[in-house]
Amino acid sequence: MRAVAVRRTGDTPELMEMPVPRPAPGEVLVALEAASVNPVDMGIAEGLLSMPHTNPLVLGVDGMGRVTEAGEEVRGLTVGDLVHGQFLRAPLGNGTFADYTVVTEFPDRGALQRVPDGMPAEIAAALPTAGMTALGALEAIGVRAGRSVLIVGATGGVGVFVVQLAAAFGAEVIATARPDADRWIRQLGAAGTVDYTTGDVAEQVRRTHPGGVDTFLDLTRDAARFGDYAGLVRDGGAAASVTFTAPPDLLTSERIAVTNFQMRDKPDLLARITAEAAAGRITVPIQQSVTLDRIPEALARNAAGGARGKTTVRI
Ligand SMILES: NC(=O)c1ccc[n+]([C@@H]2O[C@H](COP(=O)([O-])OP(=O)(O)OC[C@H]3O[C@@H](n4cnc5c(N)ncnc54)[C@H](OP(=O)(O)O)[C@@H]3O)[C@@H](O)[C@H]2O)c1
Repeated sequence: MRAVAVRRTGDTPELMEMPVPRPAPGEVLVALEAASVNPVDMGIAEGLLSMPHTNPLVLGVDGMGRVTEAGEEVRGLTVGDLVHGQFLRAPLGNGTFADYTVVTEFPDRGALQRVPDGMPAEIAAALPTAGMTALGALEAIGVRAGRSVLIVGATGGVGVFVVQLAAAFGAEVIATARPDADRWIRQLGAAGTVDYTTGDVAEQVRRTHPGGVDTFLDLTRDAARFGDYAGLVRDGGAAASVTFTAPPDLLTSERIAVTNFQMRDKPDLLARITAEAAAGRITVPIQQSVTLDRIPEALARNAAGGARGKTTVRI
């Protein structure tokens, strides 16, 4: 089968031929139809995740496909089922950037479920990691109707779900966006935007919101700015980073609640974000759709910045 993999961590991802994996007890073999790209894919390729792995290491954590074989002891899924989710389990190595993957019915680090009737393959593959993160992080900082939320890094894969969900919750969304994305991010639900390339974000937000904001969510890796932005949050508010950039002194703040967000109960988050998309309450903005052989390029592009929603893969 075709697969995009690294021969060993640290190598450049490449398209290669590999044997079709065999499902062990409790696992299913899935013929993949679609996948999507996340920053964690390059992190895995570079060996940044502290999880055991096999070599060559097939990349890709998000995917959608059809169960073509069920191993012994599989109880809930049957051959023919269409499934999607975050195919993440130890050891890493059987990713979704391939014609086939094997996955446990209940992945220990991810989440897998049946695809709702009629949901297109690339939509189902775009939702898991970014959508679960968006929903979980917004709930972690208590975003709700009547409250304001500053979202830094709002234009990427996670951000496009965060903006839409926060707006749907009835919150006032202030989102960072370069000029090319300004109109689009407002259409997704932002009430106001801040261009982080033309001046200090905190200063710009202070001008429009002199009393500060209720909540702040950081989706970037800009650790140096987290404290400035958290300083905009009113007493009793909340701030979180999804990239572990919240510094230890702020984590113990008594003024505001600060967390480094870690996803919990992924199966529940996956079911809920998928339901939002299936009901049409959120859209899934796809920046580009590539074929399997173009994944190495797409990974490099994603790592270089400029994401505007999700990059999906047709397999
Ligand atoms: N904790 C978790 O469980 C979890 C789960 C999923 C993802 N993550 C992490 O969350 C981060 C975001 O993921 P993603 O999928 O949304 O990434 P992405 O698709 O690459 O998007 C990142 C976005 O941030 C923008 N950006 C970059 N630097 C910025 C800055 N200094 N200020 C404002 N915006 C900036 C980028 O646009 P420009 O390049 O045009 O500025 C891009 O639109 C990644 O680091 C990822 O690893 C964590």
